Amino acid sequence: MNYRMYDLIEKKKHGLALTEDEIRETVNAYTSGEIPDYQMSALLMAIWFQGMTDEETATLTLAMADSGDQLDLSAIPGTKLDKHSTGGIGDKTTLIVTPVMAALGVYTAKMSGRGLGFTGGTVDKFESIPGLRSELTEEEFIRIVQEVGFVDAAQTKDLAPADKLLYALRDVTATVDSIPLIASSIMSKKLASGADKIVLDVKCGTGAFMKDADAAKALADQMIRIGKLTGREVVAVISDMNEPLGYAVGNSIEVQEAVGVLKGKGESRLSELCMTLAVEMLQLSDQAKSTRQEAEAAVREVIASGAALERLQRFVAAAGGDVSALERTASAAACTAEFVAAQEGYLTCRDAAEVGLISTSLGAGRSRKGDSIDFEAGILFRKKPGEYVQAGDVIAELYTEREEALTGALKRLEDVYAILRERPEDRPVVYEILRQN
Ligand code: URA
Repeated sequence: MNYRMYDLIEKKKHGLALTEDEIRETVNAYTSGEIPDYQMSALLMAIWFQGMTDEETATLTLAMADSGDQLDLSAIPGTKLDKHSTGGIGDKTTLIVTPVMAALGVYTAKMSGRGLGFTGGTVDKFESIPGLRSELTEEEFIRIVQEVGFVDAAQTKDLAPADKLLYALRDVTATVDSIPLIASSIMSKKLASGADKIVLDVKCGTGAFMKDADAAKALADQMIRIGKLTGREVVAVISDMNEPLGYAVGNSIEVQEAVGVLKGKGESRLSELCMTLAVEMLQLSDQAKSTRQEAEAAVREVIASGAALERLQRFVAAAGGDVSALERTASAAACTAEFVAAQEGYLTCRDAAEVGLISTSLGAGRSRKGDSIDFEAGILFRKKPGEYVQAGDVIAELYTEREEALTGALKRLEDVYAILRERPEDRPVVYEILRQN
């Protein structure tokens, strides 16, 4: 490295912008092990306090994207779309929106993550389908997009290894929650995955990284600006994560709920968010309609005709999964319990992240990387926040193989779900849509 790390830390500590060369050299030297963690930690903390300019953030994004393999999607015709959610509870939108896009003739090549902590992961949800392989080779990944119109798999290559290392360091140095660092981390993986245009679902609320709409908007704006500076069109949907999305939180039960939406029977907030994401993707694509109303009608049509569900079935078959699992309508967990309303009133959710953690305690998620998952575990809500419940109504059903986990989970749900006399204010599921200008 041609610079002294000490000088770069000093520069950033005083709020000066680092040059492109300084950022690229730092990222490369850290990835190769030349810079020790203590110096990189000091630089990250200086960034946390001083921030980064748009140019610095875009350079950091590109440097991390360039640090490993890049996926070449040129064999797939037309504009390739990607969709990314900043993570939430009960978020099965990818399982719905990507087959809808395929039925509309829009190619989506998506790499998804596994769940950790309170957030679920799309890869785990797909892997709850017996036989389905998420770990695809690059050839399989491309072939499935060509044949089916979409793919959703675990990362096929070593994408953005610099981000992986830096994220692990941020995680232990209290430097995760920095907007330029989060934005560059997410966008570096999106750039390396090769799509031309990206729709971001930036969650805000008690079950999201960004707790309020202003912070989510700032993150979304930053990612849109990175897109502009790096030649990718980005649209960001700011959506609510103050309650789980839809009725199901788990894995196989979320697949069942997603299939229900593709059969036209979705919970209203989940359906609305899926419609918004699908319309934004369609309007960015080569198949864009002249009005938003026409785009919505086109999405409704591929759901009503069964074309979107048929794409999901084709994808499951192409990835080696048992297509008949898509017809299941209940969890096969050995132990169940009901969470029942103790009194009448309006239901409210105080902490969506805690619902994710309770579901994890039942076996549906991981506390640590590498933990195994019980695909049948989870929570299926029968009532949603804002609904009026009577004493004795079943609010949710819990599923697990761990009978001993049920008592604690029920107790925790009682703390999270309050039943109030006053009707809580309605919260929209989509707060705002931000586009490049
Ligand atoms: N997700 C990421 O990929 N990176 C971050 O920094 C935060 C969330």
